[in-house]
Amino acid sequence: MQPVQASYPLTRFRRLRRTPALRALTQETTLTVGDLIWPVFLCDGVQERQPVGSMPGVDRLSLDLAVEAAAKASDLGIPVICLFPYTDPKVKTAGCEEAWNPENLTNRAIRAIKAQVPDIAVMTDVALDPYNLHGHDGLVVDGIILNDETVEALVRMALAQAEAGADILGPSDMMDGRIGAMRSALESAGHKETAILSYAAKYASAFYGPFRDAVGATGALKGDKKTYQMNPGNRDEALRLVARDLAEGADMVMVKPGMPYLDICARVKEAFGAPTFAYQVSGEYAMILAAARNGWLDGERAMLESLLAFKRAGCDGILTYFAPEVARLLRLG
Ligand code: PBG
Repeated sequence: MQPVQASYPLTRFRRLRRTPALRALTQETTLTVGDLIWPVFLCDGVQERQPVGSMPGVDRLSLDLAVEAAAKASDLGIPVICLFPYTDPKVKTAGCEEAWNPENLTNRAIRAIKAQVPDIAVMTDVALDPYNLHGHDGLVVDGIILNDETVEALVRMALAQAEAGADILGPSDMMDGRIGAMRSALESAGHKETAILSYAAKYASAFYGPFRDAVGATGALKGDKKTYQMNPGNRDEALRLVARDLAEGADMVMVKPGMPYLDICARVKEAFGAPTFAYQVSGEYAMILAAARNGWLDGERAMLESLLAFKRAGCDGILTYFAPEVARLLRLG
């Protein structure tokens, strides 16, 4: 597009910035409650609420409280809730069998939320890190994260979640070939309507620190995730991964983390035009909150601006721990 523009003083850009009405009229992108996916941490127990130290304002919730939270989110108009389990270390095994137990925390939560809050869509995390003692997203033998064996395990996990009623599966593991394997297993098992939101371009990032605290993987993780998550220096690889995952049957794709990777969001949306999401991850949340709590920036404004930036970059929506607060603010206008 070649803008046709008279020069100053015929053109004065400040004319359209003069009043709130003119600014609203000419705003190019907007944030709405329909853009939000709310990640929620689950824990065992009843009426149990465990604050996550590195994420002020975020609690792990027992199933009953998660259902209440889902109901509130639904009332606020939040379309999707995304579940992450804090798994009892006692059920963690090298083979990660708890991941496809129909009665595991996530699968019980899916069923409870679908039964009691039918309007909200339930998204899950498909990865093995909550289910083993080393904190990796895959099966590990002699320090190597096995790809194909992990994909088989992920397929079992995905089928159990679909069976429990999940609307959207979110494979966050970054193994090769998992989207195609999951998609064909879902088709064969009759779960033709289950959507896949692939964590397609997921970087090996320092910004996941507080999340690992929230799911109890902080002390556990041996080494790093650089053999499967992306190198933060790479750009073209993100496009190749998105192309691959769409070709294998992903319905939607994600870039993660969010704010440091807005260039990737923009390129992915421009290149493919597919439903594109960003994950404003735990470290991004923690940074904004920490600065706000110190009085160093206006937390509400920073939160809203950070989310609007994702929309401007071309994202269709954002996974954000701020979702309920943002929904309330947007509702107030
Ligand atoms: C792991 C997973 C991670 C996040 C979502 N799923 C952490 C990781 O890859 O180590 C991070 C989310 C966040 O930081 O908010 N399957």
